[in-house]
Amino acid sequence: MGERILVTGGSGRLGRSVVAGFSAAGHQVISVDRAEPEQPTPGVDHRSADLLDAEATAQLFAEVRPDAVVSLAAIAVPFSAPEDVILTTNAAIAHNVTAAAVAAGAGTVIIASSPSIMGYGSPAGWVPPRLPLDEEVTPQPWHAYGLSKYVAEQVASMFAQQTSEVKFISFRPCYVIAPEEWEGAPTQQGHTVAERLDDPALSAPALFNYVDARDVTDFLLAALQQADQVPNGSVFFVGAADALARRPLAELIPEHFPQLARLAAPLTGSSPAFSVEKARRMLGWQPQRSWRTELR
Ligand SMILES: NC(=O)c1ccc[n+]([C@@H]2O[C@H](COP(=O)([O-])OP(=O)(O)OC[C@H]3O[C@@H](n4cnc5c(N)ncnc54)[C@H](O)[C@@H]3O)[C@@H](O)[C@H]2O)c1
Repeated sequence: MGERILVTGGSGRLGRSVVAGFSAAGHQVISVDRAEPEQPTPGVDHRSADLLDAEATAQLFAEVRPDAVVSLAAIAVPFSAPEDVILTTNAAIAHNVTAAAVAAGAGTVIIASSPSIMGYGSPAGWVPPRLPLDEEVTPQPWHAYGLSKYVAEQVASMFAQQTSEVKFISFRPCYVIAPEEWEGAPTQQGHTVAERLDDPALSAPALFNYVDARDVTDFLLAALQQADQVPNGSVFFVGAADALARRPLAELIPEHFPQLARLAAPLTGSSPAFSVEKARRMLGWQPQRSWRTELR
């Protein structure tokens, strides 16, 4: 039987697919966003709220009494607002939503983080211990957005120390491609998917990562269903099985980041720079969609 799922940020690029996918899977979905949905999903209850208002957030969650909360609302683009605003906004939303979810009796809280917390693109010349990146590699955020997402993960860890009644999971979705973007709609940074493939300089800063929004939704459904089987505070990368690139990353990464040449050597063929092995092993989830099959 379906559960009551409160999704924050349900009007957004990722949220639209999550709301539709959870509803199609038989869950009762309550979407909380300060923006109205452009195309409301039939059967989904939209509630307008500013999640920066802790009291209003707590009241709304207490009224909804969700079984689980999927926390997506945030300023989602690095440098799209002043650094202090990104940090304080995203940290406050993460805290308000998680506190309200716990107080309202939710059993599972799943929080959107970001792979950008790893620190790629840092002007100081980031060098991770290995590629592909996995969840054991220590994040080294270099901008307020990355730091705010690292804080969001730590908010989940903090509440996991306060209660073992609630399961907290964080996930790091790669560059999200919404279904209409395969047809040519602009992606988050404004370029089309085809433009990102044709000009590797556009995808290089995020190490050619990407994921279809519906694959993220399937990950979230798997995480919700198997939440009791993962350790509290678990973190997962959620990415495509290949890279958003026409050539192997073993060639492309050294061209854009000479300091990573040796580390990139194993990324032959279509291998991505982010491993989703942990999600496959622990949740049985794997990405089903690739630009090779989805791009029109
Ligand atoms: N899109 C990506 O490539 C990507 C990659 C990694 C992580 N993420 C994370 O995934 C989540 C969703 O990203 P997205 O691309 O769908 O972003 P988006 O900007 O399209 O959607 C975010 C939604 O949050 C809502 N929101 C923001 N502040 C709010 C507030 N104070 N109160 C209520 N609602 C508020 C916005 O109205 C918007 O609908 C974010 O947390 C983002 O940081 C996204």
